[in-house]
Amino acid sequence: MADPQRSRRSCLAVPGSSPKMIDKARGLGSDQFFLDLEDAVAPLAKAQARENVVAALNEGGWGDRIRTVRINDPESQWAYRDVVDVVEGAGRSLDTVMLPKVTGPEQVSWLDLTITQIERALGLAVGTIGIEAQIEDAKGLTSVDSIAAASGRLRALVFGPADFMASINMPSLVVGEQPPGYDVGDAYHHVLMRLLTAARANGLQAIDGPYLQIKDLEGLRRVAGRSAALGLDGKWVLHPGQVEPVNEVFSPRQRDYERAENILDAYAWYTSEAGGRRGAAMLGDEMIDEASRKMALVVAAKGRAAGLPREDPWQPPEN
Ligand code: GLV
Ligand code: MG
Repeated sequence: MADPQRSRRSCLAVPGSSPKMIDKARGLGSDQFFLDLEDAVAPLAKAQARENVVAALNEGGWGDRIRTVRINDPESQWAYRDVVDVVEGAGRSLDTVMLPKVTGPEQVSWLDLTITQIERALGLAVGTIGIEAQIEDAKGLTSVDSIAAASGRLRALVFGPADFMASINMPSLVVGEQPPGYDVGDAYHHVLMRLLTAARANGLQAIDGPYLQIKDLEGLRRVAGRSAALGLDGKWVLHPGQVEPVNEVFSPRQRDYERAENILDAYAWYTSEAGGRRGAAMLGDEMIDEASRKMALVVAAKGRAAGLPREDPWQPPEN
């Protein structure tokens, strides 16, 4: 099992109906992938897609990426069979189940209990398989706090911009871009911040959804950069070309990572006996204190997860 808290900078969407795309996804460098049974799969292809997904998980070859399956809307006729077939058929090769269009905590509880039953039947430790909840409409957003607290299995809240834009009647056809005519700020700030605070209040990761203009890598970087700047952990990718830009945008810059590690080292030393038991100290031109340490921890953790090197470690001053 992949570490449920590990990095989710890029999450590759793979239609469960396409064995060819599933095979190709094995070679891509995303931190996570999800095999989709929902909106990328036509109703007539759902049953075959379940079989493809179970086979692909059991076959393996996914490295240490987080392995996820997105099941259908909990209100649909497909959802229960998705859970039964996928978790029964491949529960040992699955890290999380993604639940789309979540509108209230009871849907998460339903999934939690159903997975519990299957884990027992399989002899898996209860709680092994996680849940990721997609927030995709006005109801989901207004209930986001109770959704985020609904199950110990929850690992992440995931924004679904396309469904969300449709649900609130936003008159735009370009997912993730500012709606035409809205020139007073970021139309997604509220929803992303709302989702992010609900996630953090419950120890969950917060993930942004897709950017559909596959060829526009500049646009992808701009949109992903806004979410990364707020503090979200990652974003979906729909095409091999989107993986690298998204991994990069959600990793700290080398010099910020270096600075964060140096703040941690310097602060640990200044607060120690040898460093004079100081709660505030100067690091270069900047004063650092306990709050600086907490901010540095965030950047350092992202840099370590991204495997950034440490080139210029801080040394205590010589007397
Ligand atoms: C993803 O599911 C979206 O609706 O954007
Ligand atoms: Mg959606």
